[in-house]
Amino acid sequence: MSKQRRIPQHVAIIMDGNGRWAEQRGMERYEGHAAGIEPIRASARAAIRHGVGHLTLYAFSTENWGRPAAEVDALMELFCQCVIHETPDMQRQGIRIRTIGDRSRFSEKVQAHLAQAEEQTAGGDKLTLLLALNYSSRDEIVRAVRKIAGRVAAGTLAPEAIGEQTLAGALDTAGVPDPDLVIRTSGECRLSNFLLWQASYAEFYFPQVLWPDFTEEEFDRAMEEYARRDRRFGLVADK
Ligand code: IPE
Ligand code: IPE
Ligand code: MG
Repeated sequence: MSKQRRIPQHVAIIMDGNGRWAEQRGMERYEGHAAGIEPIRASARAAIRHGVGHLTLYAFSTENWGRPAAEVDALMELFCQCVIHETPDMQRQGIRIRTIGDRSRFSEKVQAHLAQAEEQTAGGDKLTLLLALNYSSRDEIVRAVRKIAGRVAAGTLAPEAIGEQTLAGALDTAGVPDPDLVIRTSGECRLSNFLLWQASYAEFYFPQVLWPDFTEEEFDRAMEEYARRDRRFGLVADK
């Protein structure tokens, strides 16, 4: 296996376990979310060190709106604080911030902070950090299909011209390589509506560690595990 193939181009992380981390300490759930910021910094640093070009972080699902209002509000405030405080440092590190998901449901304040972070970091060429916010894969696919249907209805796209690239190009991740590795912390082994299309040939890694305890060393372990995997893509194994 070439060295090239052993470094994932794109790592996607389902940052799970903040609530349990807080509960174990007799703390409020939002304190677990706040403790989940440092692992984001650590993951970005580790990704750059390994030469991973794209890092996607699942931060808020479309389903998460159903949580108690106090928790949702605390998360929204945390997004704003996080974007305000972290952007300058990310800019210095050459990190480009992008989002996937439907941002239109967020308050104008949250949307403005996100737009500003994207603008300020647009020149980043070390790592593209994709934040999945109000994201669900089914919602993303439905929105993509609507865009494609619009082009068909307008007569600019023939149905028989629709291929995998048409759909991939209409998703929020257009232009981003598919994730090679999907990590979900906290021991849960499910995708929870994350990158269903894009992760069709990804490797999966489910460490027990709760997200607030995730460190650069944990990221390194994930890279080591990935390097041991034999990716065959339906073919026969390399000799
Ligand atoms: C992940 O941690 C963060 C979000 C979903 C926003 P959880 O809040 O899901 O933590 P657990 O799974 O309840 O421990
Ligand atoms: C998935 O975690 C969403 C995020 C990490 C943002 P959840 O904790 O919301 O998912 P379930 O409920 O365990 O499937
Ligand atoms: Mg969870």
